[in-house]
Amino acid sequence: MKKKFLSLGRQPFANKYQSIQDKYKKKEQFYDLQVGFDTKTKLVSILKTVPSKKMFDKNYPYRSSMSKTMLWSFKKFSQFVKRKFKPELFLEIGSNDGSLIKNFKKEKAICVEPCANHAKITKKMGYRTYQFYWNMNLAKKIKKTHGEVNCIYSANTITHIHDLDQVLKSINYILSNDGILIIEDPSLLECIKIGSYDQFYNEHIHIFSLISLKNVLNKHKLEIFNVKKLFTHGGSLRYFIKRKKNKKIRINKSVKKQFIKEKKFGIDKFKIFKKFSTRVNSSKHKLRKILVRLKNSKKKIIGYGATAKSVTILNYCKIDKNLIDYFVDTTPDKIDKYIPGTNIIIKKYKKNSLKNIDYAFLGAWNFKKEIFKKEKKFLNKGCKFITHVPYPKIL
Ligand code: TMP
Repeated sequence: MKKKFLSLGRQPFANKYQSIQDKYKKKEQFYDLQVGFDTKTKLVSILKTVPSKKMFDKNYPYRSSMSKTMLWSFKKFSQFVKRKFKPELFLEIGSNDGSLIKNFKKEKAICVEPCANHAKITKKMGYRTYQFYWNMNLAKKIKKTHGEVNCIYSANTITHIHDLDQVLKSINYILSNDGILIIEDPSLLECIKIGSYDQFYNEHIHIFSLISLKNVLNKHKLEIFNVKKLFTHGGSLRYFIKRKKNKKIRINKSVKKQFIKEKKFGIDKFKIFKKFSTRVNSSKHKLRKILVRLKNSKKKIIGYGATAKSVTILNYCKIDKNLIDYFVDTTPDKIDKYIPGTNIIIKKYKKNSLKNIDYAFLGAWNFKKEIFKKEKKFLNKGCKFITHVPYPKIL
């Protein structure tokens, strides 16, 4: 049974950035963003989903290569995988713009990416790219052509697919007996701890805890044998998974450690989420209060990093251009477009974007370290960042 614990109101589709022309031509689509807890599997998911085809299309703007942090994390990870598992064939589900796969040899790698704009990039780089959504038909097609795969990797993608059983069935079909599956996604424990309710939007259908993922995998005779904490996306977990019958790989102590940590926190109990919901409501009022106060004292406020996460915050907190003049971002496909559901435009990031700015709302709070380093000069001159995690404040 799924029990609702959070309502984030009517929300537009994140990552659907409209130009001024689009705004006149097409009516923006909205959905009810509600989040629930499955009392059986302990899985946290959004309750109303949007079809994949409406989210991941040829205009999907998100590019993982826009952040040095992500590129560095992918590089370190590929070195580790090659050294530790020596994959014969490495399959990436959701290869985006090739930020990770570029670290692997072309003849040993396969990309799966439904967004035509991104698939085109990896194809051009010379990687075998299947421009499809991950499902059983595709698994059959790949197995027929390339045989079984002994290493499957997917970052921030599995949680974007509604039917997890179908995903795992198709993975099970193509994975060799001693093969491994590695997935990484934002950690529910971190999300609840730091109050980052902006992790919830139409693309983030599920947010895994180790406990819930363990329950979901169990049905498919798969188990986690190692787990690593990452600092990407505000705190993620990288899970290493194998077949239960594969006894050659031992279960690392990290799995029990994370399990106990989550149990102690109560991530498998509904009451934690009720408390979280109260905190989210208070976060909204506090953030608005800060912005209104600064605006009333004639401060110039912009947004920094037009993340999909910001869409949830701005629409939930009813923040428009009266409070934040505009956002700056480095992603080419977001420039001169509006943040979904708002009248706030995104401008191209320039080296002096923070010149004469009093405050910048940190939409890309998950890259705080990287951004603070980049903007040191302006921070020293008195420009300040505003964040909503772990609670709304001026940094
Ligand atoms: P993400 O949080 O979903 O990964 O999105 C990060 C967004 O922030 C993406 O649109 C790129 C943008 N960004 C900047 O504009 N400047 C930066 O320095 C960084 C790190 C990200």
